[in-house]
Amino acid sequence: MTALIVEDLVAGYGDARVLHGVSLDVGEGEICAILGPNGAGKTTLLRALCGMVRARGAVRLGEVSLTGRSPDAVARLGVAHVPEGRGTFMPLTVEENLRLGAYVRRGKSDVDADLDRIYTYFPVLKTRLKQAAGSLSGGEQQMLALGRALMLRPRVLLLDEPSLGLAPLVTRELFRIVQAINEEERTTVVVVEQNAHLALGIAQQAHVLETGRIVLSGTAEQIRADEQVAQSYLGYRV
Ligand SMILES: Nc1ncnc2c1ncn2[C@@H]1O[C@H](COP(=O)(O)OP(=O)(O)OP(=O)(O)O)[C@@H](O)[C@H]1O
Ligand SMILES: [Mg+2]
Repeated sequence: MTALIVEDLVAGYGDARVLHGVSLDVGEGEICAILGPNGAGKTTLLRALCGMVRARGAVRLGEVSLTGRSPDAVARLGVAHVPEGRGTFMPLTVEENLRLGAYVRRGKSDVDADLDRIYTYFPVLKTRLKQAAGSLSGGEQQMLALGRALMLRPRVLLLDEPSLGLAPLVTRELFRIVQAINEEERTTVVVVEQNAHLALGIAQQAHVLETGRIVLSGTAEQIRADEQVAQSYLGYRV
């Protein structure tokens, strides 16, 4: 079954076009990696999927069209977005941020049970509940951003550069948790990542985006195995 279908997506800012017809499918319960150099349009693609930038073309969540919907409506339908820079509310406490994550959810029951579920993935957050989000370390803030997204009980999780600015050890731990969430909750994940090696380590499928176009698609193994392609498109070895 296909969770997310993207067809010929064209998007940009004002008159500047950034995505020039992006098409891809993400299978239900799959992890899909979006790789590519700086400025390729990876962030813009995630923004277009969640309604933050206007786009032409089609985006469907299963049978439901997401095209033209507001970010709130897309979230309510089960797509959670962890943006570049994490999107947590710095002056609010960890617990307030997590509770806000459930805010747009249709059924508000079981919020406490969901909090407990999130503490099993991120035990460190439970020890920081009354602390302002702004006082957390970078890794803890990324965990909070992920936890907040999970409070939506999303069907699809969109992650934009979760490794940005984090130490390698923390990044590996985060990716391990993303993989656990995917396996235990069957959450479909689309992860944008500069660290191709890490992303391909947990993904089943991957797409390489370059100047707003998908230039390469395949299984994670295929992309990883194609060293020449990796060097020319990604600019480094994977
Ligand atoms: N808010 C904005 N207004 C105008 N142009 C923007 C805006 N955000 C991004 N762009 C432009 O769109 C293009 C694609 O940017 P985008 O952030 O999607 O790339 P990216 O692949 O996520 O890059 P990076 O790896 O650096 O995060 C760039 O040329 C960028 O300057
Ligand atoms: Mg980006």
